[in-house]
Amino acid sequence: MSEPESPQRQTPDSLMLRGFWYRALPSHQVRGNRLHKLTLLETPLVVGCGNPTGASPGRPFALHDACPHRGMPLSCGRFDGQQLECSYHGWRFDAYTGQCQLIPSLTADQNMKVDRIYAGGYPCAERDSFLWVFLPDPGPSAGGFTKPAEAPVAVPEVPKFSESFQTAYLTADMPVSVDHGIIGLMDPAHGPFVHQAWWWRKRASIHEKQKHFEPIPNGFRMSAHTPSSNSAPYKLLRLYAAADSITTTIDFILPNLRLETIRAGKYWFSSLTTVTPIARSHCRIDVVACWNIFRWVPFGPSLLKFVFAKFVEQDRRTMELQAEGLKHNPHLMLIDDADRPAKWYFALKAAYQEAQLAGGEMKHPMAGPVTLKWRS
Ligand code: FES
Ligand SMILES: [Fe+2]
Repeated sequence: MSEPESPQRQTPDSLMLRGFWYRALPSHQVRGNRLHKLTLLETPLVVGCGNPTGASPGRPFALHDACPHRGMPLSCGRFDGQQLECSYHGWRFDAYTGQCQLIPSLTADQNMKVDRIYAGGYPCAERDSFLWVFLPDPGPSAGGFTKPAEAPVAVPEVPKFSESFQTAYLTADMPVSVDHGIIGLMDPAHGPFVHQAWWWRKRASIHEKQKHFEPIPNGFRMSAHTPSSNSAPYKLLRLYAAADSITTTIDFILPNLRLETIRAGKYWFSSLTTVTPIARSHCRIDVVACWNIFRWVPFGPSLLKFVFAKFVEQDRRTMELQAEGLKHNPHLMLIDDADRPAKWYFALKAAYQEAQLAGGEMKHPMAGPVTLKWRS
């Protein structure tokens, strides 16, 4: 076993990676020309959902929450479904392009080119019950004379394996940096201590495990395996398929995606969990799950939601306490093999930043498949 390493040494500043899509908020919260103020990666945003073509559902937009005239938050203004009017001097902007449409103080003979002015805009899309916003790298200059750019990549999505399925989501605020949120999420060793429950597992069920990992673009995969025998949802799954036909795959992909897929014959369950940086020591965890199982089990979906909610709450409570301990910047360490996924996360993040700076392809920190062992 190699010597413990310090996570601070690897990312001293809890850097928030730009150039990716991030979940902003559940889309049902954004309705009827209301403007929503929110922060992602320390960036103030105003989001809304209009109906420019009368189509339903509406079309979402995201703008930098500062007017390019004198910085008034645009979220204080009014939105009519297409244009947003600043509350200070009434400048009007197209909410979808950010382009200025009107400056009310101009007189008929003042022919200033109003349409050269832009409020800073961000690509925004709805996917799987959430609005997502793309935060480019480098960030837009919060408006001025530049048009918002298009997102170069598609919005991440929960994989689905049949036409009909059910879906649910959960969200929780965590008072820690995105790094602690992510390494806490992928940490296998806290399970027996944090996630104890009579219907789930007991601390005494701790045993040695061995899992195979492989590199994938921008991340790593815990290869398809038969799920751990000491977990309740998997016991439920056996109602549907022979135990040895159940496989689960877990991917981590930069900047913050954890994708879990469980397949049991024609039945499937998948979830996409994201850890979104809000500010330097504040992140938010959102889990969206889709499945076509449990349909004939009484209380199936609510049971599942209950189990997930319990888990997320246990993690949230743990991180709240951890934040107390982190206040005074204690020395921290990562050990093999249980913290190796965390080490890969930091290495991936560093490799991504390096490629951004130097230009060119990102060099993946994993050379090939690796087997890790731990007790949990
Ligand atoms: S600050 Fe927005 S119009 Fe002046
Ligand atoms: Fe956990």
